[in-house]
Amino acid sequence: MRIVLLGGAGYLGSVASHHLASRGHHVTVVDGLIYRRGDDPAELLPAAARFVPGDLRDRSLLTRVADGADVVVHLGGIVGEPASRVDERLAVELNYASPMIAAEAAAAAGAGHYVFFSSCSVYGRHEGTVDEDTDPNPLGIYARTKVLAERRLPAVLGDGTALTSLRLATVHGASPRQRLDSVVNSMASRAASTGRIPLNGGSQRRPLVHVGDVARVLAAVVEQRLVGAWNVGADSENFTIGEIAETVAAVVPGAVIDRGQERDEADARDYRTSFARLERALPGVCSTTLKEGVREIADLVLTGRVSDPVLPQYDNHRGLVAAVSAGTLGRAGGADCARFAAEYDAAWSAR
Ligand SMILES: NC(=O)c1ccc[n+]([C@@H]2O[C@H](COP(=O)([O-])OP(=O)(O)OC[C@H]3O[C@@H](n4cnc5c(N)ncnc54)[C@H](O)[C@@H]3O)[C@@H](O)[C@H]2O)c1
Repeated sequence: MRIVLLGGAGYLGSVASHHLASRGHHVTVVDGLIYRRGDDPAELLPAAARFVPGDLRDRSLLTRVADGADVVVHLGGIVGEPASRVDERLAVELNYASPMIAAEAAAAAGAGHYVFFSSCSVYGRHEGTVDEDTDPNPLGIYARTKVLAERRLPAVLGDGTALTSLRLATVHGASPRQRLDSVVNSMASRAASTGRIPLNGGSQRRPLVHVGDVARVLAAVVEQRLVGAWNVGADSENFTIGEIAETVAAVVPGAVIDRGQERDEADARDYRTSFARLERALPGVCSTTLKEGVREIADLVLTGRVSDPVLPQYDNHRGLVAAVSAGTLGRAGGADCARFAAEYDAAWSAR
């Protein structure tokens, strides 16, 4: 299949591009490398992949790359609430306008399938267990952009282009484009480099998934054309932040937990997630455990492949702040972004 990965040179995309190429797919990666970390696409991506640099808000670029594609996958955007708060309008452009423009381009080009990378963050805070039928409860900008895109994409795609929304658990594990700013990767890398595991609070629950399992889910989704919304993870991989810290302490020799204040109010997500739908369709697809992901990340540090986990290159939030203040990344404005920003404002004005 001819598969276009928008934002495909990032943490997930660089793993997914290797996996899809290894299964014989023709992969085109479109990415602006927005964090300007000096990444070399030739090192991140499989040799067989075509790399197209560019901005995922650029309609003419998206129209060009969608031409002839069987599947268009959108995994660009800003990840997480703290990064989305740096500039709400920019987050809306990257996380809502961009996937909508890409969907319009995919539908116009006659691509049969559009896959949108969403997040379990759409559930926010919930008692009990959430599944794909649970009403979203977006707690911030990031989740609001994801919820709105999921809601509006079907109408934009029309009948000719099938939609899959992958609501990912928090991802961990090693990648050619390493991120160490998410909860597991951060704790594991710091434990390996300093012997300390910072823990603020710890009672919030988080579902987790390994980056390699996400790539396997994506391959299955495009090959079997699984459509609709899917939570991506495994029931056995729901943990509290405190349990994650304890697992890291058990896996990384000598590491101890530094307990701080209860709960980070900037990220009040708290939910237990059911992945039964995915497990029924693709049994065992997300079977890599938290322990395995922690070992991978600790090994990166202990073998020197990551020299210092607090370097800004591993942190999307710091990369975003640096790119915005250097002026290499900013609001595009223009008619498309203005139209979708107005939709976002209208949708969430009563919040
Ligand atoms: N990593 C996680 O834990 C996680 C969890 C849930 C959902 N997701 C979703 O998965 C997707 C991928 O996440 P990731 O961790 O790989 O993020 P990432 O930041 O590593 O990758 C995103 C890539 O998109 C590119 N990009 C973003 N906006 C762009 C634009 N306007 N023009 C050109 N390039 C642009 C960036 O340069 C980057 O390479 C995102 O949609 C994210 O919301 C990730």
